[in-house]
Amino acid sequence: MRKSFAGLIAAMLVFGGVAGFSTAGADEELTIKAIMKEGFKGDTSLNKKVGGGTATADEKKRYLTLAEALGKAKPGKGDEASWNTKTKALTEAAQAVVDGKGNAGDLLKAAANCKACHDVHKGQ
Ligand code: HEC
Repeated sequence: MRKSFAGLIAAMLVFGGVAGFSTAGADEELTIKAIMKEGFKGDTSLNKKVGGGTATADEKKRYLTLAEALGKAKPGKGDEASWNTKTKALTEAAQAVVDGKGNAGDLLKAAANCKACHDVHKGQ
């Protein structure tokens, strides 16, 4: 009796551990701030590398993931239609980069316009 009770506790701990791990896995929650820090801020950002043509295949894919996550996030400011248009353009540009399309650079320049987006959607 005592033994099987301990076994149950152990099983619950293992199960809890596995469940906790899986939530931190594939479906990571990316906030807009985290996306900006990793993807856009500064001279070593993914945006600079992707725009400058120095990004690796993995970095291009990560940039696409960030663009998609940005589209799913909700900005604190500005209307939804504007946000959807901007993030969709960014996702399409990132997809063009991953696919190696010839117009990817132009799409990216238009879509990754920091000020155009911040003016409308970035709060104080
Ligand atoms: C599609 C819209 C969009 C584009 C494009 C965009 N940003 Fe942002 N950015 C935002 C929003 C919205 C916030 C505010 C996030 C918040 O406070 O939660 C933000 C915040 C930031 C922040 C502050 C992050 C923090 O920790 O508070 C930095 C830095 C930043 N952006 C850099 C850039 C740079 C550099 C570019 C261009 C290369 C860029 N962003 C392009 C939407 C955008």
